[in-house]
Amino acid sequence: MDVNVKCEALVNIAPLMDRNGDPVHAHGGHMLCKDGYYYWFGENRRDRRKVSCYRSMDLVNWEWRKDVLTLDSPVKTIYHRTSLELEPRDAENRGFGTGAVIERPKVLYNELTGRFVMWMHWENGRDYSDARCAIADCGTVDGEYVFRGSFNPVGNMSRDCTLFQDDDGTAYFVSAARENADLIMYRLSPDYLSIEEQVKTLWPGQAREAPALMKRHGVYFLISSACTGWLPNQGAYAWAEQLTGRWSPLMPLGDITTYDSQPAFIVPIAGKDNNQCSYLYVGDRWDPTDYYASSYVFLPLSFPSDREMSLDWVDRTWIDPCKGIVAVECGTGSGLFRMKSVGMELYLASGNHSIDPDEVHNLEVRTLSYTDKQQQWRVDYGRDGAARLRNGEMTVAIGSENSLILVPTLDQEDQFLWLLTETEEGSLTIGSRDGRVLTVAGEKRNGWGCVSLEPKHLHDPRLGGDPQLFQLISVR
Ligand code: GAL
Repeated sequence: MDVNVKCEALVNIAPLMDRNGDPVHAHGGHMLCKDGYYYWFGENRRDRRKVSCYRSMDLVNWEWRKDVLTLDSPVKTIYHRTSLELEPRDAENRGFGTGAVIERPKVLYNELTGRFVMWMHWENGRDYSDARCAIADCGTVDGEYVFRGSFNPVGNMSRDCTLFQDDDGTAYFVSAARENADLIMYRLSPDYLSIEEQVKTLWPGQAREAPALMKRHGVYFLISSACTGWLPNQGAYAWAEQLTGRWSPLMPLGDITTYDSQPAFIVPIAGKDNNQCSYLYVGDRWDPTDYYASSYVFLPLSFPSDREMSLDWVDRTWIDPCKGIVAVECGTGSGLFRMKSVGMELYLASGNHSIDPDEVHNLEVRTLSYTDKQQQWRVDYGRDGAARLRNGEMTVAIGSENSLILVPTLDQEDQFLWLLTETEEGSLTIGSRDGRVLTVAGEKRNGWGCVSLEPKHLHDPRLGGDPQLFQLISVR
């Protein structure tokens, strides 16, 4: 790292706190640069749904400004055919509000009208069946936004979304349509308050979510995730020379879980002193077992060529507001892994929370949790390339009647040694010395499943993932 760097580092540790010492609640968000500040808008699910706005000059220290849109915000129509019901009333619940869902708010400044315009995903609070976009606007960046209604753009479903402003001021809205099968791009009217035209369907049928767009050296890049709810998956990027022209196929971005994150937005950081622009990826690290423990991942994007994008893990990023991203640092890592079942979106875990070494710990699979230490494994390689799988002080072993248990031992006997064999796709089988492999068994119930030792079988790929395959993901 450059010793002359004077600025504070942006550190990938959870949780991110604002200047009052409160966790920053700005998920699925967006940033807008205005008058020397970065304004960060995002979902806040504390109490009732709202959009919170924070600001910072250095992207490290964040000041909470206001909950700029709440379910009690003023509502005023501008165009017909939008629903002004910000929070529907529930007839079956004595007319109380349903607590509408507001997700992925994005804000642009409109030069022509001098107003800040927010687009977002809106649902009725009971289910995700309305699949609408919604608009709000305001005369100041962090003032009280007026809700302008929700609607289905050109009659389409509209869920995960993003906004993008091109160099000529034309704005585009991109959102997931047709039960998330397609991403559709719309050109907005010059005031950004309505849709002018549906201009493109991107990767039809490929079920992409969490879109974010940027432009560099005249080339557009769109990043997105696959569709796995709160669970992270392999991100992808694509490029195009014209927004509404031909887009490249989707190409992988980051690792198989996008470093345990889902794209929220990309911030261009324009170096005032050096005329260079750097690009920072901001992703949500949703916690599927505890939403309020969700955090963020900040990573610099790099560009091996004008049509290639890459996202590598770094622990810290130094951003000088006058120069852009000036340095990064990557530590040695935790040496721990999560082991994700390819079959079931579940993670290998030591199944007993007791620390009493005399109690039997089973091996099981559970829904991803970033705080659950029982899902964090050390792989210790020993003789013949065989490995011990260790969770804290405990080691996975074959118990009586072929059960899988964890015991506190360092013996070199076969019952503790596992052969990790990589497949062509980069997944692993975890095999015992007698040729059987760990297999996720039984129905997935409430985010839990059991693990048994079974002979290796041929799995029909049409059934989805293979319960005998695992992926190792670094704990960061
Ligand atoms: C994600 C989506 C999030 C949120 C979540 C709810 O796939 O990107 O914005 O909608 O699903 O399950």
